[in-house]
Parts: sequence; structure tokens; C-alpha cells
Amino acid sequence: MDLVTCTAPVNIAVIKYWGKRDEELILPINDSLSATLASEQMHAKTTVSISPNFTEDRIWLNGQEEAMANPRLVNCLREVKRRARESGQTPQTRLDWHIRICSANNFPTAAGLASSAAGYACLVYALCQLYGVKGDLSELARQGSGSACRSVLGGFVRWRMGSDAQGHDSLAHQVVGPEHWPDMRIIILVANDGQKKVPSSIGMKRSVGTSELLKFRAENTVPKRIEAMEKAVQDRDFATFAALAMKDSNEMHATCLDTTPPCVYMSSTSHQVSDLVHKINEHFGTPIVGYTFDAGPNACLFLLKEHVPLLVHLVRHYFPTSDTTFKGDPFRGRDFDVEISSG
Ligand code: DP6
Repeated sequence: MDLVTCTAPVNIAVIKYWGKRDEELILPINDSLSATLASEQMHAKTTVSISPNFTEDRIWLNGQEEAMANPRLVNCLREVKRRARESGQTPQTRLDWHIRICSANNFPTAAGLASSAAGYACLVYALCQLYGVKGDLSELARQGSGSACRSVLGGFVRWRMGSDAQGHDSLAHQVVGPEHWPDMRIIILVANDGQKKVPSSIGMKRSVGTSELLKFRAENTVPKRIEAMEKAVQDRDFATFAALAMKDSNEMHATCLDTTPPCVYMSSTSHQVSDLVHKINEHFGTPIVGYTFDAGPNACLFLLKEHVPLLVHLVRHYFPTSDTTFKGDPFRGRDFDVEISSG
């Protein structure tokens, strides 16, 4: 039996991917840009094993057996095997052995916390290790979940939408490595760790079909904003970075509301967090903290290390009933830290 275990981190988009031009290949309608967390923090851990003794393919997610028939899973497995076959490194017999996949997240699954990103990045990486596949993994991970293609690289990562109909140029590129902005911190406030109402893939399909604003966003705002965001990251210009992240998050959620029927992901708690962030920034006269919300109510806050104590204090003050037992040490000098508070 051959067995490989890997972990892959979550990434948080500051310029959002929302909408596909090709559902099957998972090709987006705009570029996106994200920060990959340090992998010891929020991650997926996946073990894959193959054996001539296995009589069928099986998969367990967070301890529960799931169907192997999931088309995205099937696509990833097929594509990795195709590459392995083309490279001639893996004997056909090994490719024919049945597989067992066991994956778990160390954070809430499908609560708008990018679990599919870490999960598919991890699966593809583990499969590639198992079958000896080398080269760019983002194209493979993308076929599991769009945002997963950004989790195969560290630091700040841009997923270029590409123009090839087969998606061969729809790949992730590292903008800067994790060492580039050592003072950057991410705090995740878990407003609700239940499963989200409308999964992102369904929500974005609905937006593509019904939202005029989505078209405008993809063609007009994102192309300019993403260049400004890449420059802000390169220049370590926090105020511009935070302002652009908030603008983009709000535009994505406005698009979700412009969708029929509307996709409502932010809750009243999310809006309270957003108000608090704007009040703090007004007080300072410049953004010292930025928020972004994915397809769920939880807030991802970006801030510099020096402002973490203040932010933690204010969250405790304004959300006194919340459980602010932080996971992760905000003061460790690391790439990115994640603190989770739930309430
Ligand atoms: C709001 O990558 O989960 O998090 O490609 O259909 O699997 P699929 O969607 P997914 O969507 C992520 C949407 C987002 C924004 C982002 O991460 O860019």
C-alpha cells in the first residue's frame, strides 16, 4: 500500500472571485487576489492511499463517508491520473489500484471560511505526491474548486482568469511570498459557524444568470482594482490595501443582493463588525483595519501586528457576550496569524 498525508491552508480573497464563464472547467469571469494563511493555522489535512487490495474507491470527509461520485472529485482524480500517465513516471498498474481518501478541516466546514479551497488544494497536492506528478498544480486544484487554485501557493496570490477556452492559462501566480509583509495579521471573527444557506457555486451561477451589476463588476471595476491591489501589496501600503479590500467585499455582496433570488450572506452581526471597522478607521483618519466577507457572515479582518491588541480589546468591548478565546498567538512573528473568536 502507498500512503501520503498533506496539509493545505485556507486563503482569504481580498479581490473576490464571483462568477464563472465555464462551469465544467471552473473558469472565472474576473481575476482574483488572496492571502494564503500559514498552514499550521486553518487547514485541511488529507491522506490518500492506494492498494491492490482495495476493492473500490472510498472517501471520508470530516469523519463521514461521502459519495465518490462527486463530479469535481472525479475531475480532479481523472486529471491527476492523466498527467501521471503522460509523464510516464507511474506504472499503469498503480494507476488502476483503488484509492482511499480521508480529509478533515481543523475549522468549520462550508461556513464561508474557504473550506473547499483548502480541501481541494490539499487533495490535489496529495494525489500529485502519490502519483509523482510535477509542475503547476493550480490548474488541477481549480477543477475541484475555483478558489482552491490560490491555496497551492503561499503569500499573496493572484488567480489570472486567462483567455484559453480549455483553461490552460487560468492559473494562480504568486504576487509576493509570505515573508514580504511580516507584520500583516488576519483575525477571523466567527459570527456563525453553521453551514451557509446558498453554497458559493450555486450563488455565483445565479448571479451570472441574473445580475447586471456582476457584468459591470467583472468588466469595469475588478480589472482596475486588482492592479491597484497588487501594487498596494507590493508597496506594503496598508491603507490602500484595506480600503480596496472593503470596497471589493461590499461590491461582491451588492452583486449577491442584485441576484434573483438574492443571496444574503452577511448577517446583522456582520454589519455590526463592518460599522465598528469604519468607526475605528474614522477615528484614526486612515484605514488601520480592513474587512472582507466571503459567502457567509464571518468577518476576516486584516490589520498590522501593532493594532492587534487594540482590535481585540474593541471586539471584546462591543461584543461582550462573544467567546473571545483566541486560537493562535497574535504576537508571534510569523507570516500570517489567525485568531478565531466565536460568538
Ligand atoms: C466568495 O471557490 O468556493 O470565497 O469554484 O464553485 O467551488 P467554486 O466556488 P468557490 O468560491 C469562492 C467564492 C468566495 C470568493 C473567493 O474566494 O474569491
